[in-house]
Amino acid sequence: MCNTGHGKAQNRSNTDALTLDTKPDVLKTTALAHAAYLARLPAPSTLATWDVLEIGSGTGLLSLALASAVRSLTAVNAAEGMIAVLRAKLRAPGAPPQRRGRSVVSNLVLHHVADLGVLFKTVWGCLKPGGEVMVTDFEDFGPEARRFHPEARMDGVHWHGIKRDAIRAVLEGPGFGDVSVETGFEMEKMVLAVPGNGVKEHKMVFSFLICRGRRPAAG
Ligand SMILES: C[S@@+](CC[C@H](N)C(=O)[O-])C[C@H]1O[C@@H](n2cnc3c(N)ncnc32)[C@H](O)[C@@H]1O
Repeated sequence: MCNTGHGKAQNRSNTDALTLDTKPDVLKTTALAHAAYLARLPAPSTLATWDVLEIGSGTGLLSLALASAVRSLTAVNAAEGMIAVLRAKLRAPGAPPQRRGRSVVSNLVLHHVADLGVLFKTVWGCLKPGGEVMVTDFEDFGPEARRFHPEARMDGVHWHGIKRDAIRAVLEGPGFGDVSVETGFEMEKMVLAVPGNGVKEHKMVFSFLICRGRRPAAG
């Protein structure tokens, strides 16, 4: 486990860490993302040989769901508070050694990253040749996607979701092969009836994209 980064958005993440695991929307999204990953990851005997890195693990909900199925799982997050909650959930103290991963996963993080090109170049460097990246986040389907976050919680939100064509181009940038961008799952969420009025009473369905690419075996 490790943390990266600092700043105002991380401060909010540090505060959010204390209650994240009690948020029904967060638990629901994690369960849906976990199922979407399992449907696409290899059979258990192969998966058990994989080293997996989760970027923006938060308190480790997805990491812990995947951990028993893989050889190793490394969780990174920009906010120390998130990692502190994850550490508290683990019995063994101390961070396990990091390895170059066979796979990189991430849920609900891309919209917090200003330069996705830099992120995926970094991901490329984290992967073994032949390794794959598989990340999920909500789709930018137009202006209404902004309603995913209440107006009072826009700190650190760089994108109102992910655009299919744009993320495909970003993945192809460093040279990922077998690139695919598809709807992984849909999630119903209560949003503010009128943006800014603080009253959650309007249900919206958000699509989550699952974006994949493979670092070529010879790359
Ligand atoms: C919406 S939360 C999602 C947390 C977790 N993936 C989940 O689904 O419960 C976004 C997380 O990304 C982290 N984050 C934002 N920018 C990051 C970066 N550049 N590197 C690592 N983590 C980052 C935040 O601290 C926060 O924990």
